Amino acid sequence: MQLLKNDLLLRALRQEKVERPPVWMMRQAGRYLPDYIKLREKYDFFTRVQTPELATEITLQPVEQVAVDAAIIFSDILVIPQAMGVEVLMEEGKGPSLPNVIKTQKDIDALVTNEVEENLNYVLKALSLTKQELNGRVPLIGFAGAPWTILCYMVEGKGSKTWEKAKAFCYVQPELAHQLLQKITDTTINYLKAQAKAGADVLQVFDSWSGSLSPEDFKEYAQPYLMKIADAVKEEAPVILFPKGSWYALPELSESSASGIGIDWTISPKMAREMTGNRITLQGNFDPAKLLLPIPEIKKAVHKMISEFGAQKYIANLGHGITPNIPVDHARAFVDAVKEYEGE
Ligand code: CP3
Repeated sequence: MQLLKNDLLLRALRQEKVERPPVWMMRQAGRYLPDYIKLREKYDFFTRVQTPELATEITLQPVEQVAVDAAIIFSDILVIPQAMGVEVLMEEGKGPSLPNVIKTQKDIDALVTNEVEENLNYVLKALSLTKQELNGRVPLIGFAGAPWTILCYMVEGKGSKTWEKAKAFCYVQPELAHQLLQKITDTTINYLKAQAKAGADVLQVFDSWSGSLSPEDFKEYAQPYLMKIADAVKEEAPVILFPKGSWYALPELSESSASGIGIDWTISPKMAREMTGNRITLQGNFDPAKLLLPIPEIKKAVHKMISEFGAQKYIANLGHGITPNIPVDHARAFVDAVKEYEGE
């Protein structure tokens, strides 16, 4: 076991005292960084993801250029459908597409659930190489998409604002939906365990589209599977659940096996603390669009956010991924503001 020089993230997740909150940014690797954009001209998306040396280089960029307190492995949530035998294409500037969507029992029966370590070996290699290159500078975060969010792409075949096909699939054929969610869950559990073994210190589960469900449907199609994953992998590494838009589930999620919950800007820090009874570490929730403010205003807004969450049991982050239009010095100002924070 290698000792970490900066273990703020791990201490915050264990609810231990910290000198200041740790800070990282969702989607920090890629998108807005000029060095990443240069690599994008040379290699297509899945080449970048599947080549451990490239994935490692991209993972380290925000650690070295923006000085975040954690690295998140450069990969994608859609490697899970790929590992289950579903084709995924990534068109630059357009987003993902899955030409063969899941519709029937036969489609679900054809999914592969037991080859994740072989099929995603390149992610495991990237994690161990990154761990080695980090040399203990900061913790390394592994991740996966939550079963509901992965179902969204597998049924819809591409991104959507409403996910109406994915939702209709669940409402019209609930039994098939649960079979599919369970298969994704089993695969994801094995994948996350393998990531921890390969060097991930923390595991985040992205339920990016859980906010498209009603509270009742979240409880049926999203929450049970998030809980199963957290229960199954908590011994391996601390888990952060990020059910975007599903703030109503905070009381129950704060009683789960997760060590942290990510929230977006649709709930205030104070309300999130109340709903979780201060039992769990919270992560978030700066609106990434506010990174376009002038730097002094970013800093003021960040300090206000931290004072509202409190500096303990807290991980400073955005409420969703950083967007490609953010200047690097504004991203750096966000990180610096957290480091400059003085107070409780
Ligand atoms: O956080 C990180 O920087 C690590 C890398 C990472 C990527 N995707 C790389 C990527 C992570 C954690 C993800 C997760 C992911 N992928 C999510 C969940 C997080 C979220 O933002 O809600 C989702 C929904 C996806 C699916 C996905 N991948 C979409 C919708 C797209 C296209 C649009 C976009 O930029 O998000 C991708 C492609 C993708 N994955 C890119 C990157 C850097 C952009 C392609 C490029 O810049 O070359």
